Amino acid sequence: MNDIRVLLGGDDQELVATFRAVMVELTGFEPVSFGRTSNEILGMVATDHDIDVVLIDENIGPVPAHDLVREIAMRRPNCAAVLLCTTVDESALTRALEAGARGVLSRQPSLEDLESRLSTAAEWARGMSRWIGGGHVEAVGGRRGRLIALAGAKGGTGVTTLAVQLSLAAAAQRDRSVCLVDLDLQAGDIPSYLDLVHRRSIADLIDVAGEITGPMLADALFTHGDGPHVLLAPPEAEHGEDVTSLATRQILAALRSRYDIVIVDCGTFMTEASITAVELADRVALTVMPDLPCLRAAKRMVGLWSRLEARKSEDVIAVLTRQSRKNEIQPDFAARILGLALTKTTIPPAFRALEKAINNGSLSRVEDDGFRRAVLQVAGELGMLAPEPADAGGGRAMTGAP
Ligand SMILES: Nc1ncnc2c1ncn2[C@@H]1O[C@H](COP(=O)(O)OP(=O)(O)OP(=O)(O)O)[C@@H](O)[C@H]1O
Ligand SMILES: [Mg+2]
Repeated sequence: MNDIRVLLGGDDQELVATFRAVMVELTGFEPVSFGRTSNEILGMVATDHDIDVVLIDENIGPVPAHDLVREIAMRRPNCAAVLLCTTVDESALTRALEAGARGVLSRQPSLEDLESRLSTAAEWARGMSRWIGGGHVEAVGGRRGRLIALAGAKGGTGVTTLAVQLSLAAAAQRDRSVCLVDLDLQAGDIPSYLDLVHRRSIADLIDVAGEITGPMLADALFTHGDGPHVLLAPPEAEHGEDVTSLATRQILAALRSRYDIVIVDCGTFMTEASITAVELADRVALTVMPDLPCLRAAKRMVGLWSRLEARKSEDVIAVLTRQSRKNEIQPDFAARILGLALTKTTIPPAFRALEKAINNGSLSRVEDDGFRRAVLQVAGELGMLAPEPADAGGGRAMTGAP
């Protein structure tokens, strides 16, 4: 573990001098700096993302210490605040914990107390960093499900159909928990595909995103009879903007810790939330139809992700949808134009069977063997099936095309 970085906030020169002296005696700790006012501390915490622990004097101002703790907890959930109190008793501890602090410490602590409180707080902060996922942060020791983000090169390429089908296919395996997330915040329409009615959505998790518990998820998600659990997009599109990047990170991290597979329908219109999913995903698949406007749209989408530093084009895989041998544009040509890797399997057209399945609310029983087989193979290629099916070898695009 790198040295624990500690910030001290307080205007009492004696207190600062005491801590400065004590901190040098501790090994494994690096005092970052000192801030005299709560505003200074807030600014430092917001800009220096490597601070692990902030020690806050209870007398700090102008923003009172407990409000400052609350603000830090909201802005930097992976930074642990510890309050320095003249009297350390149960009520001081309760008030501090209620504000979101990780503990209290006497303003004149023993070396032992200081070391142990700082270590515990830092351990928690680093655990939290991993939990909310920083992309560069390593996985938590515990469970971390596979996150697959799917996006459409443009409207109507079948990304929702594929996301729904993949989630059904993945959930059909024994002992695999699967969650389907509708992050098409403007036009999420998974309820009509899965013929479900549910009043809860991702909007209900935003305010609690930093502290999601199992019961909260159970309340927010819809449990589909065929296996997957579903987190819907907000019913009112204007609430889509409330799903910030941080909230998305926290919600996806919470889902990953509880499901083996998390499949996200990012739609076509990129938002802060969908870009975050693209950034965090283990695999990103882009549905593309074999026509030139769509191939160009796919290139634009991948260019956007790359400029936003969410995902490099080498890490994106395209899935050709409604692909048949009759199409003028065949997979090899499409791959060349796109400059992207393609899944070996393409999704064949299945207009009648899909129409029937949607009208009957039975998407888990699409009566088209070729389509179902293709979905299963794409699920395998995206690493949703365990164990992964052996590669049959051969060229690409063998399976879907009739
Ligand atoms: N392989 C397919 N063969 C035939 N029709 C398909 C196929 N995949 C999807 N469709 C149909 O195309 C239409 C659009 O599909 P879908 O909603 O999945 O696309 P989308 O990319 O999610 O669209 P949107 O941009 O609206 O989110 C639907 O009517 C669906 O049934
Ligand atoms: Mg869709």
